[in-house]
Amino acid sequence: MILGERIRPRAIEREDLPLFVAWLYDPEVRQYLLMDLPLSQAQEEDWYENMRKQQPRQHPLLIEVTTPQGWVPVGNISLFDFEDQHRSAELGIVIGDKQYWNKGYGREAVNLMIKHGFQTLNLHHIYLWVYATNLRGIRAYEKAGFVHEGRKREAIYHKGEYIDLLLMGILRAEWQENMTLPGEEK
Ligand SMILES: CC(C)(COP(=O)(O)OP(=O)(O)OC[C@H]1O[C@@H](n2cnc3c(N)ncnc32)[C@H](O)[C@@H]1OP(=O)(O)O)[C@@H](O)C(=O)NCCC(=O)NCCS
Repeated sequence: MILGERIRPRAIEREDLPLFVAWLYDPEVRQYLLMDLPLSQAQEEDWYENMRKQQPRQHPLLIEVTTPQGWVPVGNISLFDFEDQHRSAELGIVIGDKQYWNKGYGREAVNLMIKHGFQTLNLHHIYLWVYATNLRGIRAYEKAGFVHEGRKREAIYHKGEYIDLLLMGILRAEWQENMTLPGEEK
């Protein structure tokens, strides 16, 4: 895995699960995640056991950021639904600790995952779905080099209204052309 300037992705341990419970307890964190209710510790443990049965490339990684107090876990990121014939995969990210929103960590984590996907896993196309109302997410993905590929109209029913889902994606060639992180080689 590739280290970032301010973040390091690492494997998720069982001991991290209480953090996930706490993050997903917050409705503001859950609101764009197709998750109406919080998850219990037992549900997180089931998720963890199921995750361990998946191929290692599908395992989400914990995002840790460097602070004066040391490395702090703030969220997780993953590539999943790999399509080997088409060399594509979907990306998912949650920064669960809200005090770390809007500081560029999402963009940096996405950039690292894209690099991992294209350079190490030899993907051709990485895509994601995002609520049209998730302006912070959309902006972070655009800054990471994703372009708008489509719109699934009124796909989500949330709190009394239908919301469009946007499809965003990036091709390996686009990443190679544009997405070198400062100070890094492609
Ligand atoms: C979405 C998420 C991953 C983005 O990560 P982040 O670290 O907060 O995002 P970044 O700081 O890299 O970028 C956010 C950008 O959106 C901008 N932004 C924030 N709120 C905005 C708003 N209401 N309208 C427009 N832009 C907004 C920020 O200013 C920033 O842009 P800038 O760097 O040009 O100033 C993170 O906020 C998160 O996990 N949220 C909760 C779960 C979630 O939504 N997951 C994604 C599901 S698809």
